Amino acid sequence: MSSAKRILLIIGGGIAAYKCLELIRRLRDRGHSVRVVMTKAAHHFVTPLSVGALTNERVLTDLFDLDDEREIGHIRLARDHDLILAAPATADLLARMAGGHADDLATAVLLATDKPVLVAPAMNPAMWLNPATQRNVAQLEADGIRFVGPAVGEMAERGEAGPGRLVEVPELIDAVETALTSETETQTTGDLAGRHVIVTSGPTHEPIDPVRYLANRSSGKQGFELAAAARQLGARVTLITGPVSLSPPQGVDVVRVKTAAEMLEAVQAALPADIAVFAAAVADWRIETPHVEKIKKGEGAPTLRLTENPDILKTVAQAGPTRPRLVIGFAAETEDVLGYAKKKLKSKRADWIIANDVSPATGIMGGENNTVHVVTVGAVESWPEMSKAKVARKIMLRAAEHLHAKRTAAE
Ligand code: C5P
Repeated sequence: MSSAKRILLIIGGGIAAYKCLELIRRLRDRGHSVRVVMTKAAHHFVTPLSVGALTNERVLTDLFDLDDEREIGHIRLARDHDLILAAPATADLLARMAGGHADDLATAVLLATDKPVLVAPAMNPAMWLNPATQRNVAQLEADGIRFVGPAVGEMAERGEAGPGRLVEVPELIDAVETALTSETETQTTGDLAGRHVIVTSGPTHEPIDPVRYLANRSSGKQGFELAAAARQLGARVTLITGPVSLSPPQGVDVVRVKTAAEMLEAVQAALPADIAVFAAAVADWRIETPHVEKIKKGEGAPTLRLTENPDILKTVAQAGPTRPRLVIGFAAETEDVLGYAKKKLKSKRADWIIANDVSPATGIMGGENNTVHVVTVGAVESWPEMSKAKVARKIMLRAAEHLHAKRTAAE
């Protein structure tokens, strides 16, 4: 958890505004202080009384409320916080922000601030997908505003579904923490500028015949987040990914492969690197001789002869002069997670193993969150459940620190 911060929450007029009550409690549980500005429309959905009771502060609404102006003033209000969060942000609020309006307290504060702004949109899917809203979002992103969501799902209106739901409170909290950390940690912990980071990601597909293959349930999300986090810290990143349906992070070199053999070849071609993170769920076996033509039904079930795939991590960790200075593996287990992770650290000669429990009940495989243990020689550190993006950022910050410490020790 980051240290206590001051958050200015702008509540817009949407049915999802009720989630802000829970959000305020959770932010305060984490030690943050929360001051709230409500738009006029927000008053239809939550009352200043309930919001004020949870924040312990008077809720602000009116730009021309002289008391408020004498007490704080909208310029100070805009600057005296570490983060401004607009949630839920309606289509109208986004449009007014993108246009630089300042005709109420919420927009005046957003226009006057020099602090990071995080926006959580919530609206009907048709409004979100409308080119006007998408234009405004693109403009705001170009202006440096961060977005979280909207989530996809059922709307309050019956029969309406699609992108437009306010993200759930835990995801909002994660986005707040990430926005706060990236403001403070990027500069303080030493970044990855000038480093080359290789990340493997996703499953591999091992052909049985031209149309069938062996695969696993890996979504590639954790690997993509690791690549994004390394890039954010300034590294040159080569992301070598098996077949996944994710769009690659910006500024990252992507090499798309299908099989384990192709993945190994791509990793070797990408060396040398300072850090290599093996997040791919590489298939352990492949079909010894895949059929050239499609196997026909009706001739009895075929027998598939399997052979072991090369262990990419192990090969790279033992690569002598081209071994990256930091080799990180993952251990996805369904039992005795730490026991197997410790064995893997040794047998694969990795520097760190990030271990996680991927039993179906955990929802980790394919899900948004991860609960990991960082296993190093002689130490295990267990991290609480957090988004895969947060896990990725923490790992990369730790990796940057590690390289920095190694360099300082060598000097
Ligand atoms: O042995 P196991 O598959 O559990 O090891 C997991 C770790 O090893 C992961 O980091 C994975 O990316 C890597 N690995 C690999 N090549 C393989 C098998 C696993 O790089 N053939």
